[in-house]
Amino acid sequence: MKTFPTFNSMYQKYIFPRKQFVNHHRMNAKKYIIPEVERRLREQNTPGYERPNDMLQSLMEMYPADGDYEIPYEDYVVNWTFMLVFASIHTTTENTTMVLYWLMKYPQYIDELLEEQKEAIESEGTKGQDPELSFDVIKKLVKLDSFVREVLRQRTVGLSLQHKNINKQDIELSNGIVIPSGEIVYFNSWDVSRATDLQGEDAEDFQPWRFVQSKKQAVRIGEDHIFFGMGKHACPGRFFAVQEIKTITSLLISRYKMTAASDITLPYTHRGMPTGAIKFEKRDN
Ligand code: HEM
Repeated sequence: MKTFPTFNSMYQKYIFPRKQFVNHHRMNAKKYIIPEVERRLREQNTPGYERPNDMLQSLMEMYPADGDYEIPYEDYVVNWTFMLVFASIHTTTENTTMVLYWLMKYPQYIDELLEEQKEAIESEGTKGQDPELSFDVIKKLVKLDSFVREVLRQRTVGLSLQHKNINKQDIELSNGIVIPSGEIVYFNSWDVSRATDLQGEDAEDFQPWRFVQSKKQAVRIGEDHIFFGMGKHACPGRFFAVQEIKTITSLLISRYKMTAASDITLPYTHRGMPTGAIKFEKRDN
């Protein structure tokens, strides 16, 4: 598309008319982000300036204002913010949905999760404020954490985590396999999540409490859990994402009685989605 700019703009105008919606969101984002970027650039060298500890600041430090960019610097920061939004929101939404569907397929575990939630809230006490689903309460939900990790394991199937060898040289792995320069490699996620030496003899089964006794929290990446990637580029947002998934699930099961209103089918392909209707009834408590 970059090579054929005229074709690209015609494509965007006539074949991809949603561009106007994208532009609308972009203008909105610019309205809020650019003045803040400008303020930080203006103030950052003044005495007493406190460095904000947030994503925007990290972006600005990763891509300094005096760098060489094809587009105006402020637009560059806005584009990156959009990329982060795409990397974080749909992934978290999708996986929360997965957890809900697995709960609907195995509703017999909901009561145990509610019991755990009740105990966690009680043990935290009020501490002068409403402890409901505070960070400490969510941390105590080890069964829910295991449930989440087991769902992620179940859906870690197919080929994923595409990476390209961008070096000019080939890379030789410790097992002798060579990845030529410019080649793309995928991980065999199916094998990782179904290998009995990594997951146990019952690797094929859905065992929601599989990780309760282990130290394998949903965020703990490793050779047996590559859903968030591995190594230095593993997902830095996974702590936040799992916290969100656990919080949303906890809120939903405690506030609503959820039941399957039709057959629930779970996905067993890499990009597959679950299907089925879910009925929500407000609980009295
Ligand atoms: C369930 C939700 C999420 C899933 C499944 C997920 C998954 C992933 C995966 C597989 C990678 C690539 C790792 C690699 O290339 O080896 C990644 C990278 C990344 N994710 Fe997430 N992610 C999620 C949520 C989030 C959230 C909430 C944020 C930000 C708040 C985030 C920010 C990032 C960033 C910045 C990278 C790039 C890291 C780097 O290249 O060094 N992700 N994520």
